[in-house]
Amino acid sequence: MLNPFSKEKVANIYQQKNTLKILVLAVSAIIAAVSIYYTNSLVKDLKEREKTYIDLYAKTIEMSANQDNLEIPFLFQEIIVPNNNIPVILTDNMGNYVSHRNIDIKESYSKEKKDEIIAKELAEMQEAHQHIEIVLKDPKTGMVYDYQHVYYKNSFLLTQLQYYPYIQLSVIAGFGLLVYLIFSYSRTAEQNRVWIGMAKETAHQLGTPLSSLMAWLEYFRADPDVYDDSIVKELDKDISRLEMITARFSSIGSIPTLKEENLYLAIKNTVNYLQTRISSKVRMHLQSESEMIRVLINKPLFDWVIENICKNAVDAMSGVGDITIRIMHDKNNKVVIDITDTGKGIPKSKINQVFTPGYTTKKRGWGLGLSLAQRIIENYHKGKIFVKHSEIDVGTTFRIILDAHTSVNGKPLKEEAQALA
Ligand SMILES: Nc1ncnc2c1ncn2[C@@H]1O[C@H](COP(=O)(O)OP(=O)(O)OP(=O)(O)O)[C@@H](O)[C@H]1O
Ligand SMILES: [Mg+2]
Repeated sequence: MLNPFSKEKVANIYQQKNTLKILVLAVSAIIAAVSIYYTNSLVKDLKEREKTYIDLYAKTIEMSANQDNLEIPFLFQEIIVPNNNIPVILTDNMGNYVSHRNIDIKESYSKEKKDEIIAKELAEMQEAHQHIEIVLKDPKTGMVYDYQHVYYKNSFLLTQLQYYPYIQLSVIAGFGLLVYLIFSYSRTAEQNRVWIGMAKETAHQLGTPLSSLMAWLEYFRADPDVYDDSIVKELDKDISRLEMITARFSSIGSIPTLKEENLYLAIKNTVNYLQTRISSKVRMHLQSESEMIRVLINKPLFDWVIENICKNAVDAMSGVGDITIRIMHDKNNKVVIDITDTGKGIPKSKINQVFTPGYTTKKRGWGLGLSLAQRIIENYHKGKIFVKHSEIDVGTTFRIILDAHTSVNGKPLKEEAQALA
């Protein structure tokens, strides 16, 4: 059975969330497609109906014009086929305006304005549909004496109906996006509170045994009877380690202050520290464009990032291989740190997942190392971290990008010069 906090469960939650996202997207796409398809078929029907209607209307005009009886035109045009919504222009054989219907032209308009509107409408109608020809015959002899043309375009209703689903779907999508943003914002805020709260509490709880240990150390130092050099040395080391852990947790639990640091020296320290603790078959190399690149970092947190990435690298190489850290400037004058291993690599399909909390391929891993690293680099340092390159059985390169500090490559300070010497 899965316990609710097991890593399988955590990984499962992310898996389910992704499946749910895909499902919601798929259902939305289907709804949108069906709604557009349905309206399009309505539009098609209505278009055909309007075409039939205009044909009939043109026939009515033709019949009315070819009639002797003056009452019949009125009967047809106003009662039998009254066209009250399709815009129509009637022209003579040469395309000159004769009359119109359902075009918004007020009596009060000047002649120029009326002509202008007619010309514009006519141009639109010529684009929209093929005109219909009316044959004028002498009612008595049946001789053809002239032709007229009926031009028309879609009714306002039809035009609106064509755009309606797009407008409706955009409004719904916009609203959906807004709701999603609000929810994801409040979820992120909640996650932040949990991270910060837990970290603060851990730092706080570590504080008590740590000060007690320090007091014991002082006691050992002060009493020559119990003083033992090797024990005190080891104790001292453990206390520094605990102090470092406390500093990390308390930094992540507050708004960490960034300080100008020599990046090369900071990483060199971490490398030296790690080198003594990992397999001797892993060689660590540090290369830097310059030993004087300074950046704004929070050292306890930044060290944690480098440590997490290097530990992953050691795991990926099963304890044998090379880790190379390169520090350089990119063309945008940002500071780039590439950490390359010669390990087993990350499959392409998993590269996007390695920063997800809970994603792990290790028996004893929690899948938190990289998500913590991402949080530290992106939230606290406003930098970037990503997998630059990975090849199965060849190795992986993680890249960190930080803003260069204004005094990059400045003159070495006294303590820097000493440390570099
Ligand atoms: N250098 C690397 N080479 C190959 N795979 C890696 C590398 N770094 C990370 N990964 C993959 O990404 C996963 C997530 O790494 P992450 O550090 O977040 O968690 P973890 O190491 O599994 O556990 P934790 O760090 O919490 O102990 C790893 O389990 C591993 O599959
Ligand atoms: Mg890890």
